[in-house]
Amino acid sequence: MGKEAARLELAGNASDYKVMSGTVGPDVIDIRKLYGNTGAFTFDPGFTSTASCESKITYIDGDEGVLLHRGYPIDQLAEQSSFMEVAYLLLNGELPNKPTLETFTRTISRHTMLHEQLATFYRGFRRDAHPMAIMCGVVGALSAFYHDSTDINDPHQRMVASHRLIAKMPTIAAMAYKYSVGQPFIYPDNNLSYTGNFLRMTFGVPAEPYVVDPVVEDAMDKIFILHADHEQNASTSTVRLAGSSGANPFACIAAGIACLWGPAHGGANEAALNMLREIGTVDRIPEYIARAKDKNDPFRLMGFGHRVYKNYDPRAKVMQKTANEVLERLGVKDPIFDVARELEQIALNDPYFVEKKLYPNVDFYSGVILSAIGFPTTMFTVLFALARTVGWVAQWNEMISDPEQKIGRPRQLYTGATHRDYVAVEKR
Ligand code: CMC
Repeated sequence: MGKEAARLELAGNASDYKVMSGTVGPDVIDIRKLYGNTGAFTFDPGFTSTASCESKITYIDGDEGVLLHRGYPIDQLAEQSSFMEVAYLLLNGELPNKPTLETFTRTISRHTMLHEQLATFYRGFRRDAHPMAIMCGVVGALSAFYHDSTDINDPHQRMVASHRLIAKMPTIAAMAYKYSVGQPFIYPDNNLSYTGNFLRMTFGVPAEPYVVDPVVEDAMDKIFILHADHEQNASTSTVRLAGSSGANPFACIAAGIACLWGPAHGGANEAALNMLREIGTVDRIPEYIARAKDKNDPFRLMGFGHRVYKNYDPRAKVMQKTANEVLERLGVKDPIFDVARELEQIALNDPYFVEKKLYPNVDFYSGVILSAIGFPTTMFTVLFALARTVGWVAQWNEMISDPEQKIGRPRQLYTGATHRDYVAVEKR
């Protein structure tokens, strides 16, 4: 039996709207005919009650703190899988068997090099440019170099562009880093894993052989898995919206990178570590907790709170464990890790944070790990973008293949001036 329709009454006229159910999660009311039926729009700034699309990729239960990729819990994927396997899963819907995973990994490896002309493109940036600015520019420019994979109506070209983006992102990110420290670019080595290759291109130098540390490689791979996708977040929605006009995939991912950069989204990991460094010692935590609670102070605890999670972010749990392992294995004694742990405990027991259901999110501990590995804070969001590219291309492909797909075009509640006549400048 179908669900009972939702009835809306406006100015005495009733209209019915189909209620749709997903496999899990809340039902949605299909309001596509609302404007036609009533002449009214809905008002939902920030999309807190609006499902913008149908998707089979990622599911989040924010109250329970659950994150599933194609049905698989994030902690199982982080502990037992690899980033390449998760990339395949997100793109194709199923876990690959061994030969399929090998073929996929080889395909990605074959696309890791960048067009040589792009090295010149990097040299146009200032040496002190933020690597996110460089990444945004370089990814946006890819369509000028890989024009043979920009026909979005051809599924083969879409897949080639997706593979190119996943494969080239580590090279682009590592080159942004090398450029900022004035070291030569390191070319990919396809004998290494996706993650090992990235570490070598980032931290290796031509003068010495670079040996990939398996502990760091494993931690980095987990960090990539934890950031791979997150449903219809701001940057993914940006990619979908940009793509809905038929823009090429490289331009869409550049738009996603630009959105991710903001401190309320991917930029939070950089902001969280800067905040922990600013706090510096455990005895200063109460001062910052008081500031976070003060309505007149714009300060927020970075790495805390989430639009969807009203429980512990499942990614933060894995991240905290990984931070422990990495610091121990690398023998790093960083006081900011103690500040982070203590801050978490104090906040979790403070009525302000308890009542508002503010818990640590994925960004709270990631900065501690990345800094122990040797990344400067400016690279943190770049690493997020690298990993999230997998989710972005999976969601972009899903959108383009969706027969219901339309150009995204929200409406508005207009509160500006009504019609008025132009007055010449000398008469104003
Ligand atoms: N510190 C102090 N108070 C907070 C915080 C925080 N980190 N986050 C939310 N609040 C308060 C906020 O002031 C508001 O209080 P009131 O109801 O009294 O006005 C209430 O909690 C609800 O906050 P909101 O801003 O309306 O919630 P939102 O869903 O729009 O924002 C958020 C979610 C993630 C933008 C926000 O929690 C935040 O700014 N957190 C810090 C930045 C951060 O860590 N971002 C990373 C998100 S996870 C990674 C990713 O997905 O990119």
